[in-house]
Amino acid sequence: MTARHGTYLDHGATSFPKAPGVADTVGRFLNEEAGNPGRGGHRLTVAASRAIELARQRVASLLGADPERTLLGPGATFWINSVLQGWLGPGDRVVLSALEHNAVMRPLRRLERGLGLELVVAEGAPSTGVPSVAEVALLVAAAPTRLVVLCHASNVSGAVLPVAEIAAAVAPVPVLVDGAQTAGNLPIDFSRLGAAAFACSGHKGLLGPPGVGALLLADRVELEPLVCGGTGSRSESEEMPEWLPDRLEAGTPNGPGIAGLGAACAWLADRTVEAVRDREERLTRRAAEGLAGIPGVRLHGRDEAAAHVGILSFTVGGVDSGELAAWLDREHGIMLRAGLHCAPAAHRRLGTFPDGTVRAGFGPFSTEEDVDRLVEAVRHAASSGVR
Ligand code: ALA
Repeated sequence: MTARHGTYLDHGATSFPKAPGVADTVGRFLNEEAGNPGRGGHRLTVAASRAIELARQRVASLLGADPERTLLGPGATFWINSVLQGWLGPGDRVVLSALEHNAVMRPLRRLERGLGLELVVAEGAPSTGVPSVAEVALLVAAAPTRLVVLCHASNVSGAVLPVAEIAAAVAPVPVLVDGAQTAGNLPIDFSRLGAAAFACSGHKGLLGPPGVGALLLADRVELEPLVCGGTGSRSESEEMPEWLPDRLEAGTPNGPGIAGLGAACAWLADRTVEAVRDREERLTRRAAEGLAGIPGVRLHGRDEAAAHVGILSFTVGGVDSGELAAWLDREHGIMLRAGLHCAPAAHRRLGTFPDGTVRAGFGPFSTEEDVDRLVEAVRHAASSGVR
């Protein structure tokens, strides 16, 4: 989208603008509903509880989940940590893809040191790092495995992983899906995904405010809370309640953020994720074709025959990616993210470590003109440099 802000093409990092209605809903919560939900019974507490439960229903409905098993908290990173720290024990074996973000790799590395985990990486296809169903199934079959962890789509290349097919092939071994790049960008029906848990951000494809994200848990899947504290329920007890969502949602929640996320999900449900997906796919394909036709430009980790979300990574021969991104912003008002994108493992796998890439990410408000502006600016950079 081009506005007074410039051309925003960094939807892999966060969405901008937010869905219509989000800012108003955040403001309404703060101005009219900002009691502490579930704590006491006065009218502002009731209004806050209602706003949060409405948001929970909307998130659950958009993602095909059970509202009681749709947990709302600070973000995908928090929920991924909750699952990894809640489920993994001494010596556990974990199979993961080579494309994981540091939201997965950093907690896993810490648990590897502390618990002696065995981390087994599925290297994936040579050019994309996307694992096949057979590759993951073979690794899981090779030794008792506690957990499979997969990003649903790479935040570096946009490549989509076959998580449902993998979950079916490795059952009953549980699969944790990092859906940070797919929630709101791909139609998702968690009830049919086969994953034990799906963590996602609220501020990326779901078009909500920052500081909020969701965890979807499958039936009968249990998780010890990462954080314990007040819930407003069972206040006589010094133990966490047994039931969801209270068991996993200690402390005063981010009411304005959650209410805003609910408004965003309502907008997405109305627009339909399928329509958003079609638009982002068309724009990303147009960008890939345009950029690939420029001498000196390389796209990374893409197989045009495979599925991608609205993200692509590229480099321009002889041009530092950080300098290119800064020049695109300064000279053309185009905002995108250069570097390693908090995913050094993925960049190592794609051969772009340590220099990284420039990453473009398209959203529901991106346009063909945005794509063409990017392609023309990169053409200029490739022919004339960025100084
Ligand atoms: N994880 C986000 C990104 O990929 C911040 O840029």
